[in-house]
Amino acid sequence: MEQYIRSLVEKSVQGVLADGTINSSRRKLVIGNWKMNMSIEESALLFEGLRGEEQACDVAVCPPFPLLYPVKVMLAQFQDSIALGAQNMHWAEKGAHTGEVSAAMLKELDCRYVILGHSERRQAGETDEEVNLKVKQALAAGIQPVLCVGETKDEREQGRSGEVVVSQLHAGLDGVEDVSSAVVAYEPVWAIGTGLAATPEQAQDVHRTIRETLANQYGASAASGVPLLYGGSVKPDNALSLAVMDDIDGALVGGASLNAVDFKGVIDGFTRG
Ligand code: PGA
Repeated sequence: MEQYIRSLVEKSVQGVLADGTINSSRRKLVIGNWKMNMSIEESALLFEGLRGEEQACDVAVCPPFPLLYPVKVMLAQFQDSIALGAQNMHWAEKGAHTGEVSAAMLKELDCRYVILGHSERRQAGETDEEVNLKVKQALAAGIQPVLCVGETKDEREQGRSGEVVVSQLHAGLDGVEDVSSAVVAYEPVWAIGTGLAATPEQAQDVHRTIRETLANQYGASAASGVPLLYGGSVKPDNALSLAVMDDIDGALVGGASLNAVDFKGVIDGFTRG
């Protein structure tokens, strides 16, 4: 036992020495985006399947609004090892916004994260300006925004991936002075729900661009502390190959977060990576 503990300590010290950057201390983060899926019963089944697992990386689930409270209750059994997040919110503090949900409401339910600017919302008309207002409101409320950026298939074919992502990043973070609570998710639109994930090299390439953009704006140390997630057809069989890339700190997972076997497989890949 003692030897085992010593080997673990040695391994982590070697990791820090070999890398020498703050990067090495970033824990991997896997967030499940349930989109408009799941019932109370299906949620309970999913957590039944995840029970008893030691989560060696940070894990969160983002259910639809009506499921936030029941899922919060179900998550009590995991003693904080699985966090709660939401998929959207309004930028106003409160008021006459029928059908909308405020940051304070999410905070009251202990939401740690809120996904903002997902491409499915951008496609439905959400603008960079709206995403930016929401990011600032989430930060003000003490919720970590998961700012989604990503290019379309056409934009990639035109060689404009980096340009599009940098522009969405600048717009989304406009006026944000402290980036330490933010999370950025690179989700190429062409990879979402298609089964055609970006290759680890394609994803790493854009993640490096995002890291450099953050470093230019906030300094290298702050930039290295921001978790950069990859999203778009992450599955158990590609999780590890993505996780080992330098600037990929975790995943935003849609389809594979809806059942325990696949979600566990993805978490496992990112834990090892
Ligand atoms: P997918 O969705 O894993 O089903 O491709 C990812 C997302 O849209 O967040």
